[in-house]
Amino acid sequence: MTTFRIKRYNPEKQPEPYFEEFKVDATEGITVLDCLNDIKWTQDGTLSYRMSCRSAICGSCAVKANGHAILACQRQAEHIADKDDTVTIEPLGNMKPIKDLVVDFKPFWDKIDKVKPYLHNDTPAPEKERTQSPEEFRLIDDASTCIMCGACYSDCNVLEVDDNFLGPAALAKAQRFVGDSRDKSTLERVKELSEPGGIWDCTHCGECVERCPKPAQPFYRIKEVMASALEEGVHNNNGARHALSFTKSVKHSGRLNENQIPVESVGFFNIKGLLELIPIGIRMLLKGKTPPILHRSIKEADDVKRIYRELGE
Ligand code: SF4
Ligand code: SF4
Ligand code: FES
Repeated sequence: MTTFRIKRYNPEKQPEPYFEEFKVDATEGITVLDCLNDIKWTQDGTLSYRMSCRSAICGSCAVKANGHAILACQRQAEHIADKDDTVTIEPLGNMKPIKDLVVDFKPFWDKIDKVKPYLHNDTPAPEKERTQSPEEFRLIDDASTCIMCGACYSDCNVLEVDDNFLGPAALAKAQRFVGDSRDKSTLERVKELSEPGGIWDCTHCGECVERCPKPAQPFYRIKEVMASALEEGVHNNNGARHALSFTKSVKHSGRLNENQIPVESVGFFNIKGLLELIPIGIRMLLKGKTPPILHRSIKEADDVKRIYRELGE
């Protein structure tokens, strides 16, 4: 028998959440959702969670299992259980629990709305439809597979500390339109997405790629939007300046010039930003963490330059 430790929460009865254990005969092939259904239908009908399709299509059954977001209908219990044959189930993270495993998705949907997830094209509509070539469609194919399950949003490290961050799902949705050959607002979109809370606030941890049950894989889509923003010349922000300074440094010497990158990232004429760097610099100095004053190239710097040339950079 597999033990399911389920986080229960019912603010109408008890203000604090608590864990309750249930035993399920989780035989081979049984999904986590099958186990939740078994518990609800045969042990405790008050257990609340969302589900619909049971086929990894509707995106409604996402929960946390042993610390990471999953689609309950997609993962087999025996593959999730730890060595004590226990599965700890909690509601998705970064969203407010309403009851048991049901969370409030409103902030998630509000952020999807913010990226204007619809085609912008004021040119006269053709008689039938606005077409794309297969090659053009391939650029947005992965982002189109998102089922809005919230697994990436749940486990995003930035959202844990910054509610303002648009988050992986909304940014993946943004790429769906930034990369769409029929959309006419690319520049406008990437300008908005380069503002605080947008693409450049992602810390590149890759957690959303690990958690995404579909090819949408938000971090890769975020990188594509970053590339579009740079191509469109949207450079007047710390994130873009940081990326450009980083690339320039590696291209020049084969390594990061850690004295120069922070200054170039905040901008030479950004007096406030430069002053804010001083306390960090002093702390680094006191801890003996400052990089060498003289920046030296690595021995293989010419090889690095050659790689850049071959990449057409
Ligand atoms: S890669 Fe970026 S968006 Fe994805 S989980 Fe990490 S911080 Fe969040
Ligand atoms: S990007 Fe992936 S994990 Fe995030 S909501 Fe869409 S399908 Fe779910
Ligand atoms: S029930 Fe639809 S995705 Fe799991």
